[in-house]
Amino acid sequence: MSKLILVANWKNYPNSLPEAKALLKELSKKKALFSKTTLFIAPPAPYMELVANSFAKLASQDLFPTEKGAHTGTVSVEMLKSFGTKVAILGHSERRALGESSRDVAVKVKTALKAGITPLVCVGELVKDAEGEHFEFLREEIKASLTGVSKKDVEKIMLAYEPVWAIGKSAKDVINPGELSQTTLFMRKVLSDLFGRSAAEKVSILYGGSVEPKNVSDLMTGGVRGMLVGHASLNAKSFVGIVEAIFENK
Ligand code: PGA
Repeated sequence: MSKLILVANWKNYPNSLPEAKALLKELSKKKALFSKTTLFIAPPAPYMELVANSFAKLASQDLFPTEKGAHTGTVSVEMLKSFGTKVAILGHSERRALGESSRDVAVKVKTALKAGITPLVCVGELVKDAEGEHFEFLREEIKASLTGVSKKDVEKIMLAYEPVWAIGKSAKDVINPGELSQTTLFMRKVLSDLFGRSAAEKVSILYGGSVEPKNVSDLMTGGVRGMLVGHASLNAKSFVGIVEAIFENK
């Protein structure tokens, strides 16, 4: 069984380089504990070098899908590679909210694959829905975000199920493990319909949306291979608490 995958999405935090350094310093005290996982940190671009030189593996929060050139305000895939970026979070709901479509995501997925960076493709419905209508939404979002990806390449991607209604809330507002299981099973079925069963089995599905020390053990029973953690990854105590909850049954 492969190691649990943990991806810290720092979003647009911490506010300053000293704060980012302090956070990494605190986390590195628990290096041995984190080594039970495959840990990626996705910082804002100015902190990439810092994370690249830390005990964690470097991830990016996005990527720009064309090669170098006159594209003000972007970071090219070559630059990401040169810092040793291993994973790129793509299609995060906060980027989709800025206008990114699944078609844009699909282009980025192929760019990442070509560059040898693992795409972590985020999907998730906007509102909580007890009637199961979100399943169709998810099917379409997965299908569109992976357009043009080959059977062989799909094995190299990871998917994150991030119900948008659960992002940035607290442990109590999160999805229950039963519903999560149902959803991850469904997502695997969609992958299997699109790419065949054996390829679908190889795709790691992560969960994201208010993962905290309090709920992570329950969420781990939902058929996922890891967690994409936002706000709780910005506080050393809560991020370490997540790993302790998983491995030390706290
Ligand atoms: P959250 O963010 O853990 O703060 O809900 C997760 C994410 O947006 O990836």
